[in-house]
Amino acid sequence: MHSNRQSGTIDVWVFRHSQLTIPTLHMREVLSPAERERAEKIRHLDLRLSYLQAKFAFRIILAAHLQVPPRDLRVTISRFGKPRLPAHDIAVSQSHSRDWSAVAVSALTLVGIDIEHRRPLGNCRQLACHIMTDQEASIFEGIPRELAARKFLELWTRKEAVLKCAGLGLNQDPRGLHTGWDEPAVQFGGLQYYLNALPDYGPLVGHLASHDPHQIIMRSLPAQLDAWSICRPAAAF
Ligand SMILES: CC(C)(COP(=O)(O)OP(=O)(O)OC[C@H]1O[C@@H](n2cnc3c(N)ncnc32)[C@H](O)[C@@H]1OP(=O)(O)O)[C@@H](O)C(=O)NCCC(=O)NCCS
Repeated sequence: MHSNRQSGTIDVWVFRHSQLTIPTLHMREVLSPAERERAEKIRHLDLRLSYLQAKFAFRIILAAHLQVPPRDLRVTISRFGKPRLPAHDIAVSQSHSRDWSAVAVSALTLVGIDIEHRRPLGNCRQLACHIMTDQEASIFEGIPRELAARKFLELWTRKEAVLKCAGLGLNQDPRGLHTGWDEPAVQFGGLQYYLNALPDYGPLVGHLASHDPHQIIMRSLPAQLDAWSICRPAAAF
């Protein structure tokens, strides 16, 4: 039985890719052939490294959590892009923004996580009509200019978290989902979604969505996250 089924929690990891000082070669060894192929197609070297780090950490986190060797984890992708672990009865979600990643795992409920690097968004007033419901947009108009970019990203991560939890991503027009600005739970597609803001992590804003209001535990990266342990046999995990 998985640890967070017993504890009744949703486990979340938020980390900076620079925390991973693993040689690229070792990271590649842990990835699936499809992930390696996708990495090869990324021409920009920094983006390729960031992709490798994110996928490597995703596998190491899940492997440590499930106590299986990272190479043996079979991750499938749904028609709309949602990652799944068919051999394990858990739900996962991940998000990346610049050199940060977030991972959420639950054995009890579907989860969706989304993070965004805080940044100035000169055009957020114009973008609002593309993502907000009329009610959200009318509140946004009253938000002072100095808070607008941050509030925009907060709302965006609320919406993406719910849409990832639902497995739809941007296949669903975000204007068709009303999350509001502060509501702890929202209805979408006849289902209830609970929304939690992630704690402040440096420059990030982020949200976690789930179908049930379980306790959220912020976790540190597994101690096994080093080049030596990924070369050891399964027993090391
Ligand atoms: C889900 C989505 C909104 C995330 O976009 P984003 O903010 O740029 O990226 P994030 O880093 O926060 O999330 C990406 C992760 O979400 C997950 N994800 C992708 N599609 C998902 C879906 N339908 N449901 C749940 N999770 C999804 C994947 O794990 C992905 O990681 P990967 O790119 O390393 O494989 C977007 O990727 C999406 O909807 N994709 C499918 C539709 C599409 O391709 N539309 C064209 C672009 S508008």
